[in-house]
Amino acid sequence: MIQLKTDEQIEGIRQSCHMLCELLDSLEDGKIIKEGMSTKDIDTYCHDWITKRHAEPACLHYEGFPAATCISVNDEIIHGIPKANKIIKDGDLVSVDLCINLKGYISDSARTYIVGGKSTAQAEKLVKVTRECLYKGIEAASQPHARVMDIGAAVFKHADKNGFGVVREYCGHGVGFDVHEDPEIPNYVSHSLGNPRLREGMVFAIEPMITMGSRNIIDMPDGWTVVTADHKMAAHFEHTVAITRNGLEILTQI
Ligand code: MF3
Ligand code: CO
Repeated sequence: MIQLKTDEQIEGIRQSCHMLCELLDSLEDGKIIKEGMSTKDIDTYCHDWITKRHAEPACLHYEGFPAATCISVNDEIIHGIPKANKIIKDGDLVSVDLCINLKGYISDSARTYIVGGKSTAQAEKLVKVTRECLYKGIEAASQPHARVMDIGAAVFKHADKNGFGVVREYCGHGVGFDVHEDPEIPNYVSHSLGNPRLREGMVFAIEPMITMGSRNIIDMPDGWTVVTADHKMAAHFEHTVAITRNGLEILTQI
């Protein structure tokens, strides 16, 4: 069931989303996500940043997830578990994905960061195209009378045109009161999922997960980490958006 949100509730979710945007912005300067840091160091930074502001990291303990953030490096696509012995190298792609709970309102956003200066042209293209896929999806969702599958169609088209793979096993989703709500928002056109019309009061996360090679994945035995089957790189960008009376608003962008 899709839970529509009131203006007041959207304002609460907006504040949570703006906080999350500020946190992800603060990681852009390369002081925390850099060669020699562990993924656990990044997680600790995010955890402390959030709790200092009297909010909670909503991924922590969500369905048993053991950390504040999902940090996925190179061939890891999503849901990587931060680890003290996972050390970041120059040229790595580091995807940071997390949710904040501020006064009961949940935000969800992710970005892939390029570490240092040694990345390949193809890795940089992957990150650029994945970010563009997110904005193609947002643009599709902004059209009058848009439906959920318009998002997936737009994301898929852009990734495919650039020769990249689109992960199917994981999707975007409603968000705001809980980390995962209805509806599911696939990054391709699914004929088995529902195709609801986007309407005022809906709040959801669009999150393309794009691969340099094959779209096939492996779910790792840790129960969380999802990696590419061919161990080629992946990228992931995610925004929480709301459909308001004034149209679509990207909440996790200030
Ligand atoms: N953005 C992630 C998702 O939608 C957040 C999940 S929190 C976790 O899957 F605990 F499940 F990792
Ligand atoms: Co999400």
